[in-house]
Amino acid sequence: MVSRVIPVDTFDLVIFGGTGDLARRKILPGLYRRFLAGQMPTDARIVGAARGALDDAGYRKFVGEAIEEFVSEKKRDKKKIAAFLDQLSYLTVDARGTAGWKELATKIRKDCVQAFYFSVGPGLFGDIATRLHKYKIANDTSRIVVEKPFGRDLESAHALNEVLAASFDEHQIYRIDHYLGKETVQNLMAVRFANVLFEPLWNAQYIDHVQITVSETVGVGGRGGYYDKSGAMRDMIQNHLMQLLCLTAMEPPSKFDPDAVRDEKLKVIRALDDLVPDDIVRGQYGADADGPSYLEDSENPDSRTESFIALRCHISNWRWKGTPFYLRTGKRLKARVSEIVVYFKETPHSIFDEDAGSHANVLTIRLQPDEGMDMRVTIKEPGPGGMRLVDVPLDMTFADALGPEAKDVPDAYERLIMDVIRGNQTLFMRGDEVEAAWRWTDPIIAGWQARGDKPKVYEPGSSGPEDALMLLHQDGRRWREIKS
Ligand code: BG6
Repeated sequence: MVSRVIPVDTFDLVIFGGTGDLARRKILPGLYRRFLAGQMPTDARIVGAARGALDDAGYRKFVGEAIEEFVSEKKRDKKKIAAFLDQLSYLTVDARGTAGWKELATKIRKDCVQAFYFSVGPGLFGDIATRLHKYKIANDTSRIVVEKPFGRDLESAHALNEVLAASFDEHQIYRIDHYLGKETVQNLMAVRFANVLFEPLWNAQYIDHVQITVSETVGVGGRGGYYDKSGAMRDMIQNHLMQLLCLTAMEPPSKFDPDAVRDEKLKVIRALDDLVPDDIVRGQYGADADGPSYLEDSENPDSRTESFIALRCHISNWRWKGTPFYLRTGKRLKARVSEIVVYFKETPHSIFDEDAGSHANVLTIRLQPDEGMDMRVTIKEPGPGGMRLVDVPLDMTFADALGPEAKDVPDAYERLIMDVIRGNQTLFMRGDEVEAAWRWTDPIIAGWQARGDKPKVYEPGSSGPEDALMLLHQDGRRWREIKS
């Protein structure tokens, strides 16, 4: 496979929070990898902006170290790193004051793509947005990039949308959900809408149910303070898993265009039924020899925040009536795996003996690790002895099918930042989508808070609490085993 790198127009990218953790771990190493791939124009410029006093040399040193730490050894080329660092500079900017803004105004070019990455707490969005205009830095074509958490409920998300809308048009706002930048997520759309095979079967008539799992082995140690105010529902379901649900369940958009895609996703969220308490299982990991419990990690001995959640949802529309979608996500589970599994129904009538068993097709779309797809089909077991049926995988690990380069897919952040520069909003959340997702999740959270529900403790390294298994058992189904 020959990888194609499509150059982007030259740009000035300002990263507010340029010395923060996200910049260090994801944004800057990602930009370096794009530079290495030949996608970053040689006259593009990246400006780190933060409150700390630092000069260009100090910032380049900081970024060099980040590359050292977060870019794989085989991609670390001294000369290339030096050339990349040459395109970087630093400005001390006070988001709430006056320092640095005039300098920023003289530094930023007016005749190229301008992008401002707000890699800062949402409390600063308004301050930065208004100053970008006050100091005549931004114009009608500038783009701003914001991160999750985008609010912690409908009210706060709406307020954030208003703050941004006061300074920028919706077409200038890029709300990142890094799950949308993952290679296989886009493949889900290709599989559904570029093949004639799946779409006719993609409905309640042929699909029994869908499982979406994002399971992690890490705990919340180190970020317990943030996490304890959030929990799995706000941290993962409201954004990443709901986005996966939308892409799986949406109607075909008329074209692969940002608003056409986002309109269809929004319709899915709006069609989600309210949940009842029996549709929800929440859990909290206990301690084991490898690590502390959630209560210890969060440093809140009375915490009722969930580190695991499993939900049963229904989408009330013609396509999906009667097909449940089960979502689950959690920390300190058995393995790190993110996948969407589509369970098709059995054939309406079996022409084979009962001994042949009952069989159904299963399509697994793996986001990580080893991006790929696996379709289980039923065949005759080879050999004599009559008709015995067996399920075998039609496995397509992208790296096997497309060569080693397919394993070298850009990280979600790399892709998304380049989409900002290209001006393509397809893989970013629109303001109304985010609000609709909160509109659905808010009453669920309010429900368990009003009931005073406590999360069930689960063993680290397990698949979550027993009750999560029961959620599917009650429906005569089973979760797919969590394994990488
Ligand atoms: C983040 C969450 O958005 O996604 C984290 O805040 C989570 O809690 C992370 O660990 C998972 O992302 P990935 O790409 O590692 O699956």
